[in-house]
Amino acid sequence: MGIARIKGFADIFPPESDNFTRIESVAREIFGRCGFVELRTPLLEFTELFQRSIGEETDVVQKEMYTFPDRKGRSLTLRPEATAGVMRAYIDSGIIARESVTRLFTTGPMFRYERPQKGRLRQFHQINCECLGTQSPFADAELLHMLLCFLRELGLTQVSLHLNSLGCPTCRPQFTTALLDFLNQVDNTALCEDCCRRRHTNPLRVLDCKQPGCRAVTDRAPRLLDSLCADCRRHFETVLRLLDTQQWAYALDHRLVRGLDYYCRTTFEVLSGDIGAQSAVAGGGRYDGLVRSLGGPDVPGVGFACGMERLSLLLGQSTTTQPVFYLLALDALSREQGWALAQRLRDGHMTGITNFQEGGVKSLMRQAGKSGAKYCLIVGPDEARSHDVVIKHLESGKQVCVPQDDALHYLQTGIDSHE
Ligand code: HAM
Repeated sequence: MGIARIKGFADIFPPESDNFTRIESVAREIFGRCGFVELRTPLLEFTELFQRSIGEETDVVQKEMYTFPDRKGRSLTLRPEATAGVMRAYIDSGIIARESVTRLFTTGPMFRYERPQKGRLRQFHQINCECLGTQSPFADAELLHMLLCFLRELGLTQVSLHLNSLGCPTCRPQFTTALLDFLNQVDNTALCEDCCRRRHTNPLRVLDCKQPGCRAVTDRAPRLLDSLCADCRRHFETVLRLLDTQQWAYALDHRLVRGLDYYCRTTFEVLSGDIGAQSAVAGGGRYDGLVRSLGGPDVPGVGFACGMERLSLLLGQSTTTQPVFYLLALDALSREQGWALAQRLRDGHMTGITNFQEGGVKSLMRQAGKSGAKYCLIVGPDEARSHDVVIKHLESGKQVCVPQDDALHYLQTGIDSHE
């Protein structure tokens, strides 16, 4: 019996793997233009890193982490997100002493033990950006602008940006008290089981519960945006004004508190209506206290992550690269010549594949047709003797027989231009 794949862990074949490559290369281009450099962090970290950064009372830490002891009994966790590891690396590396503002992006797999469904996996992939070292609202706006440009460059225009401000240690406690007072007047039966727990452990999270009953209750709840202190209000208004100057549309969403505890001030998500229930393609925000809470200096930061699987769902199947040629060798002698010709064509930057197996010309031609190649190249015993190759345009059926030395030129210019 074969060995099964682990539930929620996917094998990524084309076209999805092609989509991933495209997403990463567009990200490198757009983020690189804004000064972001790539950081690769380990997949495994000490569990404490995530407990201290993401927050003990979050769903991620409570129920979704892949945690296990190593051979010495130390508790390790497969990273459920990138930000915590990036902060650890940032503190470890001493970059802080060398630069005042640091811009880092990272890509790769993350692990969360969630119920798998369309757009939600247990191993999924993120592209993650962090801008460290500035409290300026311009950094928030630049990051949002960069994210939206990235999505636009991928052709994803049917997405919407949702924004909120979570305030700071000056104004949030007051809001939390007001929210608690409000929730204390709500009967337990009006809230879902999770929210009955959250109202005591993490009351802000009650605001973003998706259950209709809870939403009906929190429609009447106090709103964070109404209780911001003057500094937080000014910060948020500047971010909005800068987005306006670039003509980006956005919706203010008082429920957007995010599922990770490190956020303050600006928080955001980009949603798509086209990929089902798991509609968030990106999420992020500001986290000014995070570096210090992990033992580093008091360095503010802002960042986001995009889900690659969800971006790929939106991209569809459009990006698979088709080979230019499919080279058929018909017997043992022509096989070696054909194989050498294929290598020369690839050296000339042509994409192509060759057949390794023997077979009738008809069935080999069928394979060539299925490969999606533009041209079928045939080297049989006659062509091998004269060092020629037949180049057949698969769509029109038109073909020419040319010296093998000229094949690259014919493929580059197209066989029609030689009539
Ligand atoms: P997050 O909202 O937990 O934020 O995840 C960001 C994105 O990762 C989501 O919007 C979604 O597209 C994708 N994602 C999350 N979980 C899954 C899953 N189980 N399957 C597929 N895709 C998923 C963070 O992770 C923060 N670290 C973002 C951040 C960076 N904030 C500041 N800097």
